[in-house]
Amino acid sequence: MSHPSGHSPFKLDILKGQVALITGGGSGIGFEISRQLGLHGAAVAVTGRRQPVLDSAVEALTSEGIKAIGVQGDVRKSQDCERWLKETCDRLGGLDILINCAAGNFLASAEEISVNGFRTVMEIDTIGTFAMSRAAFPLLRQRGGGRIVNISATLHYGATWWQAHASAAKAAVDSLTRSLALEWGTFGVCVNGIAPGPTGGTAGLSKLAGVDASEEAVNEAVAQMVPIGKVGAKWDIAITAVFLCSSAARHLTGDTLVVDGGAWMWREPAVPREAVSKASRGVEARSRSLGVAPPQRSKL
Ligand code: COA
Repeated sequence: MSHPSGHSPFKLDILKGQVALITGGGSGIGFEISRQLGLHGAAVAVTGRRQPVLDSAVEALTSEGIKAIGVQGDVRKSQDCERWLKETCDRLGGLDILINCAAGNFLASAEEISVNGFRTVMEIDTIGTFAMSRAAFPLLRQRGGGRIVNISATLHYGATWWQAHASAAKAAVDSLTRSLALEWGTFGVCVNGIAPGPTGGTAGLSKLAGVDASEEAVNEAVAQMVPIGKVGAKWDIAITAVFLCSSAARHLTGDTLVVDGGAWMWREPAVPREAVSKASRGVEARSRSLGVAPPQRSKL
C-alpha cells in the first residue's frame, strides 16, 4: 500500500535525470523505494537474486511510466556488484544514487544459530553494503557527487531477542554510514541511512513477528507497541529515501533517520495513564504531611 492519500508531498520531478540502483529493489521496502524514486523522476536499476521477481518488478514499474531495468545476482558476490553497476551505466547512462536495501534475516537464538548463519547475515547486510558502496564510489565521484542510502534497523538500539546476527550486522551498517560520510563528503557524496521500524506488508514483519497469524492480526498486535499507534507503511520508508536523495537533504550526511513511529522507544508505562495523576498527588500529599522531601524512588 502506498500513502493513504496516494499523494507525494514533493514535486514529481525532483529526481529527474538521476539514475538510481536499488539492491533488493524487486520486492518489499526495496521495491517501494524503487517505485517512489521512479515516480519522482529517476531511472532505476533494481537488483535481486530471483529473476521472476525482478521481471514482475520491472513490469510493474514500467507500467507506471518509470524507466526501469532488472539486474540479477547476489550482493554477496563482488563480481555481481561490479556487473550490476556496469550494466546500469551502460543501459541508463551513469549512477547518481545507490540504495543498499538487500538484507537477510530470521529469528534465531544466539546458541542455536550456526557461525555460518551469523556470517550469512553479516555478508548480505554489512559486507554487501560495503562492497556496493565501494564499487559505486568512483562512479558517483565521476558525476561530481551523489547519494548513498543504507537501509538499517533499530534492533541494536539496546538489544533485541533472537536477533544477535542482524543487530550486529545493522550496527556495522550504521557505523559504515558515518565512516563513508566522513571520507567521501569531500567528493560531494552524501551517505545516510534509514532505520525502519515494524513496516506492514514486509518479509521483516511476517518473518520476525514470530507468530503464525494473518497480516491484519500481526499489524494489530504490533501496533500496540508503537507510540503513534500503527505500523508503518512501505511508503513511509520510500518517501524518506526520496527526501534523502533530493536537494532538500544536500547538507545532511552521516545520519540515520529512524522511521518507526517511535517503536524503538516503546515500553509499558510503570503506572497506567489513568492512574498517574492520582498516584503522584498521593505520594506528594503523604510526603508533605510528614514534612519531609519526597522519596527518591517511589514504590509505584
Ligand atoms: N534459523 C537458524 N539458522 C538459519 C535459518 C534460521 N531460520 N535460516 C538459515 N539459517 C542458516 C542456515 O542453517 C545456514 O547455516 P549452516 O550452513 O551452518 O546450516 C546459513 O544460515 C545460510 O543459510 P542458507 O539457507 O544456505 O542461505 P541462503 O543464502 O539460501 O538464504 C537467508 C539467506 C538465510 C538470509 C534467507 O533467509 C534469505 O534469503 N533472506 C532474504 C530475504 C529476507 O530474509 N529478508 C528479510 C529482511 S528483514
